Amino acid sequence: MKNFNFQAGTKILFGKNKINELANEVLRHSNRVLITYGQGSVVKSGLLDTIKSKLIEKEIHIEELSGIQPNPRLTSVREGIKICRDKNIGLILAVGGGSIIDASKAIAAGFAYDGDVWDFCTRKATPADALPLGAVLTLSATGSEMNGSAVITNERTQEKLPMGSDLLRPQFSILDPVYTYTVNKWQTAAGTADIMSHLFENYFTPDSGTDLQDGIAEAILKTCIKYGPIAIQEPRNYEARANLMWASSLALNGLTGTGKLIGDWATHTIEHELSAMYDLTHGVGLAILFPYWMKFVLNERNAFKFVRLGKHVFGIEDENPMVAANKTIDAIRDFFVSLGMPSKLSEVDIPDTHFTEMGKKACQFGPIGYFCRLNDAAVTQILEMSK
Ligand code: NZQ
Ligand code: ZN
Repeated sequence: MKNFNFQAGTKILFGKNKINELANEVLRHSNRVLITYGQGSVVKSGLLDTIKSKLIEKEIHIEELSGIQPNPRLTSVREGIKICRDKNIGLILAVGGGSIIDASKAIAAGFAYDGDVWDFCTRKATPADALPLGAVLTLSATGSEMNGSAVITNERTQEKLPMGSDLLRPQFSILDPVYTYTVNKWQTAAGTADIMSHLFENYFTPDSGTDLQDGIAEAILKTCIKYGPIAIQEPRNYEARANLMWASSLALNGLTGTGKLIGDWATHTIEHELSAMYDLTHGVGLAILFPYWMKFVLNERNAFKFVRLGKHVFGIEDENPMVAANKTIDAIRDFFVSLGMPSKLSEVDIPDTHFTEMGKKACQFGPIGYFCRLNDAAVTQILEMSK
């Protein structure tokens, strides 16, 4: 196990009616707030009105930025930065899923930067300061509610790139599982696949001696396998929604990556090319790609990691490690399919036309992945396998 520093700086307020603590949390930072949200789910559910009335009660000034799209666009980010500057905003309150929180992080960093906010995604700059941010989570998936990462789409260049800094971790996040009752089957399944993918990214690394971290990852994976199908069948099942919500945060707040050099993250990088070009739901892309990535990288030297996962998570045993590893990969694909996720790119109408271009774009900063280094030709090959 390697040395590490671990600080998950976000205060989590978890459970029913935790919204009652919102105004006090906001006032720790400012009495001038920008509320950011998406394309209407929080209006329809009444959550936005509840939040506004709680803030108005405490005389907190509110501005709003609505219409943030899934795979959040740079245009919304620029709009948010302008509002924050013009209206002297002191805190951004993101109400929604990962896209809303990510856009809000980019706004928070862009507010404090004189240059173009896209510079953070192209690695020309790193955030040196940021507005404080709070979140009210409505979809269990990305872990954005408890980490410092954001992924932004530049619609002009069709690029989707990450940015990150500890400065962008939300100061607080309200996690009331009841807010996820209205998430439909498709997004619930995609969110579950995303949570599991975050665990895979930090599980499949070249490190050794991280038995505890890998055991935690296996426990969270089993939670997803148990509760994902229940949440899909019974959307208002509190325990299922609650377990998925906490799994979302724990899967990507840095915990399971501690003591390791770095996670793999190749599959996420490849998926971002798909959602940049085809506006695909992130978790759907991952559900398709991950089993193919696994088949591509599996070899006799690294099979033991797949064998461990299969044994601990799916109860798979076989004397032959390669057979056990392949059975594990098949079990993962079967689980995603059982949630209603596709297993091929053709099922979501993605043709093979741009695979070479996507391979090049995925590797624009150099080869990707650490469990197995992939160049652009390898990425193209994985896309070919997935078609
Ligand atoms: O826009 P509204 O109307 O709110 O509808 C949203 C959206 O259509 C809907 N939704 C959210 N909560 C709902 C709801 N519908 C009904 N009831 C509710 N309670 O769900 C749709 C998807 O929302 P979105 O925020 O896009 O989903 P998700 O949380 O999966 O976020 C995906 C984005 O996060 C990025 C992805 O790449 C993608 O852009 N990621 C961010 C990460 C991070 N910051 O650490 C890591 C991830 O790997 C990921 O890359
Ligand atoms: Zn993800």
